[in-house]
Amino acid sequence: MIEQLFLSTVQGRKSRATPVWMMRQAGRYLAEYRKIRATQNDFISFCLNPKQASIVSLQPIKRYGFDAAIIFSDILIIPWALNRNVRFKTGIGPVLDAMEQPDSIDASCLNGLNQKLAPVGEAINLTRKALPSETTLIGFAGAPWTLITYMAEGGTSRDFPKARRWGWQNRQALDGLLDILINATISFLSLQARSGAQTLMLFDSWASAVPAAQRDWLVIKPARAVVEGVRKNGHNQPIIGFPKGIGEGLIRYAAESGVDAIGLDYGVDPVWVGQNLPAKMPVQGNLDPISLLNAGKEMFRDIDHILDAFHDRPHIFNLGHGITPKTPVENVQKMINHIRNR
Ligand code: CP3
Repeated sequence: MIEQLFLSTVQGRKSRATPVWMMRQAGRYLAEYRKIRATQNDFISFCLNPKQASIVSLQPIKRYGFDAAIIFSDILIIPWALNRNVRFKTGIGPVLDAMEQPDSIDASCLNGLNQKLAPVGEAINLTRKALPSETTLIGFAGAPWTLITYMAEGGTSRDFPKARRWGWQNRQALDGLLDILINATISFLSLQARSGAQTLMLFDSWASAVPAAQRDWLVIKPARAVVEGVRKNGHNQPIIGFPKGIGEGLIRYAAESGVDAIGLDYGVDPVWVGQNLPAKMPVQGNLDPISLLNAGKEMFRDIDHILDAFHDRPHIFNLGHGITPKTPVENVQKMINHIRNR
């Protein structure tokens, strides 16, 4: 069996080299993605077409030989499967039916979830078969709080006033919604694990919006419930938590959420991580994706800074958030060459 550099690192072993992949690596900065994407109007149908999703997941591996592939899908697939009427509008982003109250939906919306999400499992199965044996396949889901922000506001928002207000005023009802989303996320990640995903990642992209005093309740405990649920279903794949923008909250998140590894956003100082997170805990990150737009000497300096800071711990090189659509493809190659030729 060939060793997978990514997998052994996320399991906590420090290896001869640093594995690398990028969030949103299968996406619009690639001409080959834009080409196949143009064949289908509706983004959800595109995600739920196993053959297309698999081709797209493989594209960045073919071009760059990343150490991990992430299955092509979206965190809003769960709200879609819970009948929240999710659409993607060009130039706007996701649009959903905004919920009136956190208890506007009940647990009956979970009926048929696995069946609706089955195409993602098929895509994983196809992708695993086509991947080189040294490449790890990652499955993922959105964390409950981040899904709540989209379901409350009906789309992307800057400050998430409605979701945050629920946290102060509708605590009990919000707990019910959290429960539904925790259940949905456990089912979805378990489905992906059964289908061949070798690592799972939980994206809490808007954890930054949660007040520190409510982080335990809205960010850490839901992550822990998801991890425990996946384990209870018999899946032992490493789980990466990505609570974006919580700063010092990472200390508690690392100690209490039960995740195996931490995804670091670009706002976190790697030296601070060295001083504050457990020495053996694997971390992933955290180059600012915007530095790739021109790939100047500052980018190489920052790559070196990140690699030096994590020299003695299991570290997966990644960006601190998703790559942006305008990134020149050759700059990605420059980043990879720099990491691999050090
Ligand atoms: O390569 C990969 O990372 C795999 C696929 C992936 C997508 N979305 C595809 C996608 C992953 C892991 C995601 C996660 C995701 N989706 C997150 C968490 C990570 C993050 O960015 O913080 C979030 C918040 C979403 C929700 C979402 N999906 C938004 C806000 C948008 C619209 C904004 C945008 O970037 O266009 C999407 C659409 C989306 N998801 C696209 C892709 C490639 C672009 C749409 C298209 O190609 O038509």
